[in-house]
Amino acid sequence: MKIIIANWKMNGNRKLLDKNLLELGKIHTKNRVVLCVPYTLLRCGDKNADFGAQNISGAESGAFSGQISADMVAETGAKYTIVGHSEVRKFMHLKNSDVLMAAENAINAGLTPIICIGESATEHRTGRTNSVIKSQLRECVPQTGRVIIAYEPRWVIGAGKIPQISEIARVHNLIRAELTKMGKNCAIVYGGSVNASNATEIMSSPNVDGVLVGGASLKTSEFITIISCAN
Ligand code: PGA
Repeated sequence: MKIIIANWKMNGNRKLLDKNLLELGKIHTKNRVVLCVPYTLLRCGDKNADFGAQNISGAESGAFSGQISADMVAETGAKYTIVGHSEVRKFMHLKNSDVLMAAENAINAGLTPIICIGESATEHRTGRTNSVIKSQLRECVPQTGRVIIAYEPRWVIGAGKIPQISEIARVHNLIRAELTKMGKNCAIVYGGSVNASNATEIMSSPNVDGVLVGGASLKTSEFITIISCAN
């Protein structure tokens, strides 16, 4: 079983969601599908798909206009939330400690946090990938509770290119080894320019338990192909 996560970002509407749910209902897959849609579209999942938010606050409640708490997301029936997506880290100037707090809040509310980690272009170029990944894992992942790790090299998000498959495999092996040292056993998914042409190869590596799909998840037929090619 693979985990296929859609990240719609600030795109889509009810019509697109209805279309996707209709098409998802027509296929038979043993994979888990999680739709991380805008807050306004969150709802209870069904046997075909679960829902997730794209971010939650690191605070539990209070004077944070425009923010959404873990409890609020859980109340919609959603089961997951992305935390620490590189776009959110950038727009909101998040530190690893903020991502950790959001992940802890998610777990306390009964959600599974999908914790995004990944190196920047400069870190990649200067050979700092391993150290960045290790410190993000140590600083963003709660000690207890179920989590999913999403490895998203920042330099390929929305870029239409992916690292070499051997590099994806190498980093996923490193993440697995680090998680084992931390006493954690959880799924590790890859994100960044996943599409219908590269998904099969990406998911064939041993420690790649699924994919997080941005742009391609907005095209219903392509997203369905990605889910089906992992069967
Ligand atoms: P992309 O986005 O698939 O469009 O590269 C992935 C992400 O940002 O999660």
